Amino acid sequence: MIKLDLSNVLVDYDLSSYQKEVTKIHQMIHEQTGKGSDYLGWVNWPYEYDQEEFDRVKKAALRIREQANVLLVCGIGGSYLGARAAIEAIKGPYYDDTLEIIYVGNTFSSTAITRILKYIENKEVALNVISKSGSTTETALAFRIFKQFIENKYGEEESIKRIYVTTDKERGLLRPQVNQKGYESFVIPDSIGGRFSIITPVGLLPMAAAGIDIDEVMKGLKKAYDDLNTDKLEDNSAYQYGVMRRVLEKTGKNVEMFVSYEPHLVYIAEWLKQLYGESEGKEGKGLLPTSVNNSTDLHSMGQFVQEGTKCLFETVITVKEPIEDMLFPKANDNDDEMDYLVGKSLHWVNEQAFKGTLKAHVEEGKVPNIVLELKDTSAYSFGYMVYYFFKVLALSAYMLDVNPFDQPGVEVYKRNMFKLLGKE
Ligand code: PA5
Repeated sequence: MIKLDLSNVLVDYDLSSYQKEVTKIHQMIHEQTGKGSDYLGWVNWPYEYDQEEFDRVKKAALRIREQANVLLVCGIGGSYLGARAAIEAIKGPYYDDTLEIIYVGNTFSSTAITRILKYIENKEVALNVISKSGSTTETALAFRIFKQFIENKYGEEESIKRIYVTTDKERGLLRPQVNQKGYESFVIPDSIGGRFSIITPVGLLPMAAAGIDIDEVMKGLKKAYDDLNTDKLEDNSAYQYGVMRRVLEKTGKNVEMFVSYEPHLVYIAEWLKQLYGESEGKEGKGLLPTSVNNSTDLHSMGQFVQEGTKCLFETVITVKEPIEDMLFPKANDNDDEMDYLVGKSLHWVNEQAFKGTLKAHVEEGKVPNIVLELKDTSAYSFGYMVYYFFKVLALSAYMLDVNPFDQPGVEVYKRNMFKLLGKE
């Protein structure tokens, strides 16, 4: 499902020398004995998810599609990025649907919030608020504003039918609101942290509402669970990639740049940046994850990658079968000197851009490249990819000897901000 190519990493390596360490970490992951093991609920989730709740997610999604032509998905961080990555990757850009998804609760921007309020004024609206704590400021601020909008537009009784809450099963500020008002609600399990929650109703409800077949997503997760449930490095490409991240780090590469060649994969990189960055970046350790979207960014960041500081390696995510393709057309004249492409598919052109760039960055720029080829961006492949990256991350973060599942550092800015905002 995912083809890993390590032939351009520019280092001599002996993967087998890591086998013992990988075996130990594989056991730590599967026997739940490593640091932060309370948050390893994602490991067996493909086989242990709550089927009753999953069916309710599908029913709620159908109801949303009947009720609304705009769904506001209100959340931030782990309660936002996964759903957006999935919907953009699987549906592709400018997709035709009766339901538009608008992401709120991820910014304090007065301009963004005010414009969205105006944009939805005359539309039929539903809202899915997603927050484990219920107290995340961006999300809580937007929830109050958009909840009021819905209540004013539809009245108390109807608004309750249009608000869907995804939160902790008993703790946090949203659960009491669910109990008091009777909103339909879904649970973020205790054992699955924010950046792994895409495989729970956090990601699944917005995906299903967007018309994505979430049974296929779960099938992809299961297949990845089966394929990657081995400690044998030679059979486990997620672990090979995980080890290679650490190998490259040891050669002085402190930055991992995710590269995609499809604009609708930008949010996969955003999701990955959180998954890797928040999991590894602690105790003065970790690779800095960053991203570009080519060929667009070859015209901006390309110069740096080719000739700038040699601090990074690239992890390129390509797609073998695009959602759409077309042949480059013939014209009446060749004034634009583009005739050499007549009859070639645009996807082929994109592939040549990737191949030419790979050669330039590796051979001349001396920038190591890891290449991951996805078969396609179907719901099934997407599910597979998510679990694949979970395994990569767990392995490589445990190799760093950090707890991959906490994020103590994100509280520091909040303390300062709350002081400035006058919060008790
Ligand atoms: O990974 C994390 O834990 C964070 O990104 C959280 O998901 C994010 O801060 C949102 O938190 P909450 O779901 O409590 O609103």
